[in-house]
Amino acid sequence: MEVVSFSHMSFLNSLFRAKEKSVLGVDIGSSSLKVVQLRKEHGKAVLETYGELALGPYGGSEVGQATNLSAEQITETLKDLLREAKVTTKSCGVSIPFARSLLTLVTLPYRADPVEQKTVIELEARKYIPVPISEVQLDWFIVPKADPAQATEGEAHAISDAHETIETLLVAVHNDELALLNGVIANAGLAASFYEIEIFSTIRAVVEEQVRPVMVLDVGAASTKTYVIEHGIVALSHAISVGSQDITRAISVSTNVSIASAEALKKKEGLGGTVGALEGPELVFSRIFAEARRVLMQYETTQKKSVTSIILTGGGGVTKELGTYAKTIFPIDVRVADPFAKTEAPAFMRPILEEIGPEFAVAVGLALRKLEEI
Ligand SMILES: Nc1ncnc2c1ncn2[C@@H]1O[C@H](COP(=O)(O)OP(=O)(O)OP(=O)(O)O)[C@@H](O)[C@H]1O
Ligand SMILES: [Mg+2]
Repeated sequence: MEVVSFSHMSFLNSLFRAKEKSVLGVDIGSSSLKVVQLRKEHGKAVLETYGELALGPYGGSEVGQATNLSAEQITETLKDLLREAKVTTKSCGVSIPFARSLLTLVTLPYRADPVEQKTVIELEARKYIPVPISEVQLDWFIVPKADPAQATEGEAHAISDAHETIETLLVAVHNDELALLNGVIANAGLAASFYEIEIFSTIRAVVEEQVRPVMVLDVGAASTKTYVIEHGIVALSHAISVGSQDITRAISVSTNVSIASAEALKKKEGLGGTVGALEGPELVFSRIFAEARRVLMQYETTQKKSVTSIILTGGGGVTKELGTYAKTIFPIDVRVADPFAKTEAPAFMRPILEEIGPEFAVAVGLALRKLEEI
């Protein structure tokens, strides 16, 4: 069993002993579990503890590799994590993997009456959801119309043409997936008040821009989730089936070392040092970025808008030199996510929190939402 990212945990715990107003974000990823515990104090989100536990070793594979564990194995890992991270609260919010959810942006007829609108959305949703509607939890967001006063002539024309319709983001999650998560959470002794598709948690934690389109690249273990956010809403989402585990494999193949050693080398050097001299790892990232660029261009061409910046997040977003490399691929602002910036923590911890932050974006976003309930 391998434990990572528990730095300064005991210090934080001795510093903050609050048991009441604490909340927990639980991110069940494909390669690892992450938790972040926050407490509200004077309206601020104070970081109490955080931790991560790799799932690989619980399922016969290596740290950093994606897994497909049973609910029981995930529960066991989560219990270990709660203990090792010295989590003191049961109140949590939990992420739903993007891969297990359906997000689709559709144009639907507009109804002035909200009740009628709801009926229209629910009826129309059946056309887009590939399973019986009774088997899913359905949610939706109506995309705000661009402000006609600020629109250019061409856009204003498009708005007036479209006044009888609304753009709606339909979101569906299968009941089986929720039942599985519910079982894990309950058996680990936690109480969840909401489950949220990980994209929304990440947005809360890392996207500052409220209006203009921004692209997020969540580089996970097996896949990279790509999405464009506009007006705080997901305008486009796509999964690229290449992730950070492929970097490890490329390093392992090029240098003829074990997966475990390659993983350690990846974390130590990122795209710099001896790894930087290899062709394999950079090729993996160039595949990810090439596909992300296609998604970005597709968005810009169909929507006639420019994406203003790219935010790198997920464990792969921690990769040293990745931001620098990404800047050579994308001609716009590229930044690495810093979700802990939204939390209060001792100054000496800032460098480490900044470094590991991208990996905890989902868990931070969940905990921030949970804090709003207090
Ligand atoms: N310091 C680091 N440098 C480079 N890569 C890292 C670093 N830390 C973690 N990673 C890699 O990030 C990947 C895990 O990222 P993350 O935790 O976001 O994935 P996940 O949430 O488990 O997966 P997914 O979101 O795809 O379900 C692993 O492949 C791991 O090797
Ligand atoms: Mg993840």
